[in-house]
Amino acid sequence: MERRELLRLLASAGALPLLAPLARATGTDDWQADFEAAGTPWKTGFATPPDDLPLTRAAVRGRFPDAVAGTLFRIGPAGHDLGGERYHHWFDGDGMVHRFVIDGADVRHQGRYVATPKRVAEVRAGRRLTEAFGTMPPGVEPPNSADSINVANTSVLPLQGEVLALWEGGSATRIDARTLDTLGVKTWRPDLAGMPFSAHPKVDPDGTVWNFGVSSGQSLLALYEIAPDGTLRRAAAVPVPDLPMVHDFAVTERHLVFLMPPLVYDGKRKEAGASFLDAHVWRPELGMRALVVDKRNWDKRQVLALPAGFLFHVGNAWEEDTPRGTLIHVDYVRSDNADSVFTTNREVMRGRRVKSTDPLLTVATLNLGTGKATQTALAQEAEFPRIDPRRVGLRHRHVVHATQVHATQVRRELPGFGAVARTDVETGRSQRFSYGPQAVVEEHVFVPDGSRPGWVLGTVLDFGRQKTVLSCFAADHLGAGPVAQALLPYALPLGLHGAFVPA
Ligand SMILES: [Fe+2]
Repeated sequence: MERRELLRLLASAGALPLLAPLARATGTDDWQADFEAAGTPWKTGFATPPDDLPLTRAAVRGRFPDAVAGTLFRIGPAGHDLGGERYHHWFDGDGMVHRFVIDGADVRHQGRYVATPKRVAEVRAGRRLTEAFGTMPPGVEPPNSADSINVANTSVLPLQGEVLALWEGGSATRIDARTLDTLGVKTWRPDLAGMPFSAHPKVDPDGTVWNFGVSSGQSLLALYEIAPDGTLRRAAAVPVPDLPMVHDFAVTERHLVFLMPPLVYDGKRKEAGASFLDAHVWRPELGMRALVVDKRNWDKRQVLALPAGFLFHVGNAWEEDTPRGTLIHVDYVRSDNADSVFTTNREVMRGRRVKSTDPLLTVATLNLGTGKATQTALAQEAEFPRIDPRRVGLRHRHVVHATQVHATQVRRELPGFGAVARTDVETGRSQRFSYGPQAVVEEHVFVPDGSRPGWVLGTVLDFGRQKTVLSCFAADHLGAGPVAQALLPYALPLGLHGAFVPA
């Protein structure tokens, strides 16, 4: 692709999917009333903190190990309602970024809304002004750019002393790591302003950051390579027919790996007034496509076929050269369909639990020599997979993830997961810890500790006590329970992803 043509595509890529007509007026919103009337104690996890949460000391039991002295940054949707109107999807809400500052027996928490242009304008107006991922509030104007509807609510990337608050449809947002002040959008290069930058960048062991962005309207996949010092090395957009919703990806030593579920964007639906989510169509006849891109030459691409399925998250991928060809092994969380995004993660916003198909940790093998792909599902329900950050793109054994312990009736009536597990993806063996029937597990991250087995660090909403709890486990004795816990004096809204930065 000629550079001039590429720049033209990139410049237009952020905006076109957003040429939506005036949203349909849908009358009064009854989701707020439904949510307020719901008697479910877990609904705290989807409540809206009225304001920022100042630095507050937690009650600590035990002592957090020296290796986890530092800061766990987390983020998630938190501003779910405004002016008596409630969003209709968990992923819509204004992002709140959190820091848990950990030092032995001392843990403090702070939470702040990300001051995106959308949030600032809407809070000032006292009502929604623009659409969101899964909601078209009545009477909103079409957005004039991707970043005008950016809610910065999905993940965080610590980079060069700052924290980037990530969404996936637009720019990253720069956050001051010490104050959580919002510093403005991150522009990697002037001609890339406003381009989609996904919430799941991958950091190679040498510090190189790889990321992508989906420009649905153009069927273009943007690719980014960022040097360890935070400067952009390369960016380009590659065409992908029937480009679906892609939330996460993987890297190996030599490749970028995209598992593309058949949830395909249809611009006509968007033009007819659908939300971005509802502009997507489940097309299982397309199967799951695995797009493999050469890291050094993005023009070298290969597509392999897997059975239709849906995913949000990938654990890790690695590659090996064999007499049968180069094999890429990639583990991911697979569901039979996309019900979770269309229904489960919507209905929680009015306090309702709708179960979707079980997401299972699945290991796929892509043979680049034969072009054939196979996969095996492990008997592990899973979400929020994380690995040792030192093994990104390299052969790994263990994935830390949320899971279930008992498929009891009680648990089935709760959203999310009740346990955390560490699963060996080669043997399928797993050890786990159940937080009990009154907890909703959030993402747990792996924290390395030199040559020792390391630690697992993560939060849960304990809705029995209506409090959020931070726990630390010895990674090789997860089943023995936490070595230290910090109990906040309040419950936080259920969040999405985080990252640990050592002191
Ligand atoms: Fe995610």
